[in-house]
Amino acid sequence: MGEFKCGFTSFSVLLLFISFNLVLVHGQLLPIVNDYGENTSQIQIYIVHVLKPVGSNFLSAEDLENWHMSFLPNTTLDTGEPRLLYSYKEAISGFAARLTPAEVRAMENMDGFLDAEPSQRLELQTTYTHELLNLSTLFGAWSTSNSFYGEGIVIGVLDSGIHFPHPSFDDTGMPPRPRGWNASCYLQRPSCNGKVIGAQSFKKGNTTIPPTDIDNGHGTHVAGIAAGNFMDNAEVLGQARGRAAGMAPKAFISVYKVCWADIGCEDSGVLAGIDKAMQDGVHILQMSFGSQKNSLPTSLEGDSVAVATYSAMQKGIFPCTAAGNYGPDPRTLGHAAPWDMVVGATSTDRRIRATVTLGNGKQFHGETAYQPNTVTNKFLPLVFPGSNGQLDQQFCHNNSLNGINVRGKIVMCYIGNLKNIEKGDIVMNAGGAGMILMNYYVPGFTTSSDAHHLPVSHVSDKDAIEIKDYFANSSSPTAKITFGGTIFGARPAPALAYFSSRGPAGYNGNIVKPDVTAPGVNILSAWPVEVGPFPSGLKTKTFNFLSGTSMAAPHVSGIVALIMSKLKNDNKRQWSTSEIQSALITTANTFDLDGKPIFDEATLNSSANILQRGAGQVNATNAMDPGLVYNIEPNEYIAYLCGIFYNNSRTVQKFTKNNTQYCTRSISGEQLNYPSIGIPIKSRLAKITVSRTVTNVGDAREIYNAKIVEPPNVKIDLSQYSLSFTRVEQQITYSITFTMKGAHPGFGVIEQGELSWVSNKHTVTSPIYIAF
Ligand SMILES: *[C@@H]1O[C@H](CO)[C@@H](O)[C@H](O)[C@H]1NC(C)=O
Ligand SMILES: *[C@@H]1O[C@H](CO)[C@@H](O)[C@H](O)[C@H]1NC(C)=O
Ligand SMILES: *[C@@H]1O[C@H](CO)[C@@H](O)[C@H](O)[C@H]1NC(C)=O
Ligand SMILES: *[C@@H]1O[C@H](CO)[C@@H](O)[C@H](O)[C@H]1NC(C)=O
Ligand SMILES: *[C@@H]1O[C@H](CO)[C@@H](O)[C@H](O)[C@H]1NC(C)=O
Ligand SMILES: *[C@@H]1O[C@H](CO)[C@@H](O)[C@H](O)[C@H]1NC(C)=O
Ligand SMILES: *[C@@H]1O[C@H](CO)[C@@H](O)[C@H](O)[C@H]1NC(C)=O
Ligand SMILES: *[C@@H]1O[C@H](CO)[C@@H](O)[C@H](O)[C@H]1NC(C)=O
Ligand SMILES: *[C@@H]1O[C@H](CO)[C@@H](O)[C@H](O)[C@H]1NC(C)=O
Ligand SMILES: *[C@@H]1O[C@H](CO)[C@@H](O)[C@H](O)[C@H]1NC(C)=O
Ligand SMILES: *[C@@H]1O[C@H](CO)[C@@H](O)[C@H](O)[C@H]1NC(C)=O
Repeated sequence: MGEFKCGFTSFSVLLLFISFNLVLVHGQLLPIVNDYGENTSQIQIYIVHVLKPVGSNFLSAEDLENWHMSFLPNTTLDTGEPRLLYSYKEAISGFAARLTPAEVRAMENMDGFLDAEPSQRLELQTTYTHELLNLSTLFGAWSTSNSFYGEGIVIGVLDSGIHFPHPSFDDTGMPPRPRGWNASCYLQRPSCNGKVIGAQSFKKGNTTIPPTDIDNGHGTHVAGIAAGNFMDNAEVLGQARGRAAGMAPKAFISVYKVCWADIGCEDSGVLAGIDKAMQDGVHILQMSFGSQKNSLPTSLEGDSVAVATYSAMQKGIFPCTAAGNYGPDPRTLGHAAPWDMVVGATSTDRRIRATVTLGNGKQFHGETAYQPNTVTNKFLPLVFPGSNGQLDQQFCHNNSLNGINVRGKIVMCYIGNLKNIEKGDIVMNAGGAGMILMNYYVPGFTTSSDAHHLPVSHVSDKDAIEIKDYFANSSSPTAKITFGGTIFGARPAPALAYFSSRGPAGYNGNIVKPDVTAPGVNILSAWPVEVGPFPSGLKTKTFNFLSGTSMAAPHVSGIVALIMSKLKNDNKRQWSTSEIQSALITTANTFDLDGKPIFDEATLNSSANILQRGAGQVNATNAMDPGLVYNIEPNEYIAYLCGIFYNNSRTVQKFTKNNTQYCTRSISGEQLNYPSIGIPIKSRLAKITVSRTVTNVGDAREIYNAKIVEPPNVKIDLSQYSLSFTRVEQQITYSITFTMKGAHPGFGVIEQGELSWVSNKHTVTSPIYIAF
């Protein structure tokens, strides 16, 4: 028990703080909760990082919990609620507890205390717009021989739970559970089966709440994208009909409900979910949540997910995160640790067409999922309540249409502030016959095919400008909305969604984030309830369109399952998580289906740059056979963290959980063997050389030649221009030198380039980012 003393040795410090037990407020005696003059409203959940004393080794979970408890003033609050919510075993070294700021300050002097911060609320990254995708045709990954559909791999889905009865989670054709799998499952039927093999919930220490998803739908949707089983005739209100399946239809799903309608996805529960998933033995952590827009991380240690996934990654568990939906502004990423795969969102080439025809004959193609065939082909009066400049009316807020005659008319509303479908309801309740949902300049070209309850067309900013012009210049403006069904071949596609969060992170040593993009606009996947105006409430086979980087990340989680199961089934070495990241990054496409640079939908006519789309659109077929991979050894991450945190060993120990490890070596971000390369050039005379090591996972004998696209102002020289391999797993190290060609273009300017190693079978591309 000697180990536990450390928590108590400094207990006397507490005494120094003891002041009043009662305070007199407005003549009333109010009980207070602790000895520091603090009241109950100051109790918050804190994540507390502690490091085990040197030489200690807790054998049981109970020992660990007792040690964690020894940091707390006592075990329960006056309300009877336990102080300790979670005692973490794997994700971090520490615990979550209900504490006041002064109680935390008292802990700071205890042996082993490292750091404490209030548990933050994270958000799911959907935009509440809705979307679809024929995964098999879009990615072509399954057509590659022996992809095994993710068989044998467990994807841990940390989200809002799952709708068990949905046929996407049917266990037809599933292989037996992994040997030794012992994750618990919520017991009440319907529950786990051969597809969903674990289902647990984490809410402020309460683990007894069912991990069902009826209050949200997000987790069901995400799980369906990553690993939904094959299901014929999937559709939303008759649209986008086809065979639905997740990226890895034979992968297992283990559900961790960490997101709740009332409290969001709170750090303490998220860490508990990661902690449990690691103990259960999942292979992939699928996490479509991140900080709220006003509290984006400003350091690696400020991202609680990054601290926990460091441990996951070291155990070979692949962390996959959503970039965030706070674009198009720069520096809006929710995650940016090198070991977290960070995924941005693109539009696909599919639209659920709703065409606006104006009285002057001009046509504009927008989108909606609800396409009733009862609509007459008649022009109706067009009305724009917001034409007077009133914001409430421009956005068609509730009650803003009072006193405006919209009855039987088509109403123009800007997107924003409310969910699109709610906005349609407001128009409908005010008597409107239809709605033109207009983008303004920020959402640009990104539109959604929502399951509205009245005829709607969601149009781009460009189209909205013309429609507004027509409205302003016409004495009796009219319009009609007609439906074109599901259209493929929309262009440009894929294109970066306006909302996709963009880099740079600014705190990760110029590591390029997001890493890649994946489909994330109007994605069709499983949904717990029927959508549209006439829900029967009876169907279980329901689907919905959703948009967000939330939908992009599970595409990548699924592809990772495909890669892992292929390696397993081919009896090949399992790649490290950094090697899998490398495979995804070096084979992504920076060009769209027409061979043009990926377009940025937040602009009128610009392509997305490296800080916006990362390495580009993930390409599953290519990623399963990358040829070469860049690996990062565990020690390199430590040296990287020492560089990022200026040799502050204590901060680094928060990640490594090892209090005998000190910073003895540091490297800067560009020296990490990351597949993309971010170089800071702060002076005209700078000459920066970095080395990279590749491992051959292609054919034994393969020769690669360098192909370089130089950034406009930077010269790139290589130590060698050809890599000649003679065996599988052979490693070759080369170096790259960056020098300026001309004048320094000014601080804050960015440029991009590429280094590709090209053999007759593989192209291995490192995107290059220059931060001037
Ligand atoms: C726990 O400690 C606080 C002071 O920190 C005190 O107000 C409270 O009554 C204690 N609760 C119990 C059950 O001992
Ligand atoms: C409790 O403390 C908070 C924050 O200091 C304060 O805003 C609140 O008025 C206090 N409540 C009572 C009942 O004293
Ligand atoms: C969707 O994919 C399936 C399976 O590859 C294919 O048969 C079907 O034609 C595709 N549908 C569309 C609309 O592309
Ligand atoms: C993947 O890349 C290959 C070759 O680079 C290309 O032919 C194919 O169209 C790409 N697939 C997708 C879905 O972009
Ligand atoms: C499986 O988990 C339960 C608790 O969830 C535990 O009691 C049991 O010992 C575990 N079995 C194995 C084989 O690990
Ligand atoms: C957990 O939540 C359930 C459902 O909300 C509730 O009935 C139960 O009392 C809670 N248990 C604890 C220990 O708080
Ligand atoms: C609008 O507000 C009214 C109350 O003023 C409420 O009954 C109605 O549900 C709201 N409609 C929507 C779509 O939010
Ligand atoms: C319509 O009116 C706008 C001002 O509201 C003006 O800028 C525009 O040129 C006009 N367009 C046409 C086609 O007359
Ligand atoms: C892009 O749009 C801007 C602003 O409308 C315009 O000035 C520029 O000429 C356009 N560029 C191209 C290539 O179309
Ligand atoms: C860390 O310390 C080493 C020497 O121990 C030094 O070379 C290096 O510059 C330091 N790194 C940072 C980022 O301060
Ligand atoms: C902690 O760090 C020390 C020093 O680098 C090392 O010897 C030891 O193996 C590490 N412990 C763990 C559990 O990784």
